[in-house]
Amino acid sequence: APAAAPAAGGAAAGGEIKIAILAPLSGPVPTFGLSTKEGATLAVKEWNDKGGVLGKKIVAIVEDSQCTPDPAVNAANKVINQDKVKYIVGEVCSKASIPVSEIANEKKVVQISGTSTNPSVVRDAAGKVKPFTFVACFNDDTQGKVIAKFAKENIKAKTAFIMLDQANDYVKGLAEYFEKYFTADGGTIVGKETYTSKDTDFSTVLAKIAEAKPDVVVLPDYYNIVNLVTKQAKEKGITAPFIGGDGWDSPDLDPKAADGGFFTNHYSPTEDREKVKTFVKNYGEAYKNDKGEPKTPDALAALAYDATNILIEAISKAGEDDATKVADTIAKGKFEAVSGSITFDEFHTPIKPVTVIAVKDGKVTFNSQVMP
Ligand code: PHE
Repeated sequence: APAAAPAAGGAAAGGEIKIAILAPLSGPVPTFGLSTKEGATLAVKEWNDKGGVLGKKIVAIVEDSQCTPDPAVNAANKVINQDKVKYIVGEVCSKASIPVSEIANEKKVVQISGTSTNPSVVRDAAGKVKPFTFVACFNDDTQGKVIAKFAKENIKAKTAFIMLDQANDYVKGLAEYFEKYFTADGGTIVGKETYTSKDTDFSTVLAKIAEAKPDVVVLPDYYNIVNLVTKQAKEKGITAPFIGGDGWDSPDLDPKAADGGFFTNHYSPTEDREKVKTFVKNYGEAYKNDKGEPKTPDALAALAYDATNILIEAISKAGEDDATKVADTIAKGKFEAVSGSITFDEFHTPIKPVTVIAVKDGKVTFNSQVMP
């Protein structure tokens, strides 16, 4: 019998390519995991519908990495050693992506995180780029700069109070970058207090904020903590606006508690751009909420979708299922993504505009876009 021609358009003929998706499906921030899983698997499905990549079907292996170092490391070891993957999308949280990056680079497995913004995800302790790790997002140096600028120029803040969880690389880093840019621009930090991710009662810190009367309170943590703190702040009568970063982005952010606040983010689903409109439409068709309505993709979903597409497009352009060649192709490539046009700097990080979102009257709405 004649050799089978490569399948065009339909089911791929020649085997499969596995991609691992490490997502925090359980643990403190489950909406981050669900959105990531949905965004990444939508990208895989769209490629498979067009015939896969390199004539092979793409198989997504989703693991629950919990936004926590140990489970993330276990998941990375499992997919590399057992499933033999050469490509990982994830994690979401910087503190989980950092230990995963160590394994990925040791095993020469390509890692692309959509959303881990801490600079140490892509840089080693000596400040050198990790050859196999990439992110599809701006980093916290950029994000901290924009938060500081927004505080000064839009909120007209002269003083700021910072709250932080020092055990969270993302929170700690973003707080530091905010302080650096805010003070360089003449702002004053009137208080800085730490808490832990296990805390549920923030009254001691909030009493200090009430006393210090800052123009703005900086809380660069995830939505679960933001909900608790802003609710208790309102109960205490604190009126200074709270500001934070991408970690606030969740359908489970409590908009009543966080009312009057602002946060930076990677994209807005209401942006009038073809790539965004198509993605929002396809995502809404693929995924429904509890009431059966189309879900609106948050930034986690958009960036997981972008990260997965960048990876698969690079496999396609590299022309070979080879991790080293794929990493090289990502580093040199240009990608049209939902979150904007992406090229990578020497630290495997895109230069992209930052979106500012306002929490007002029970809703989160686009406020502005800042090119840092
Ligand atoms: N940037 C966060 C981190 O590095 C993760 C995150 C991204 C959370 C986008 C929400 C939205 O830990």
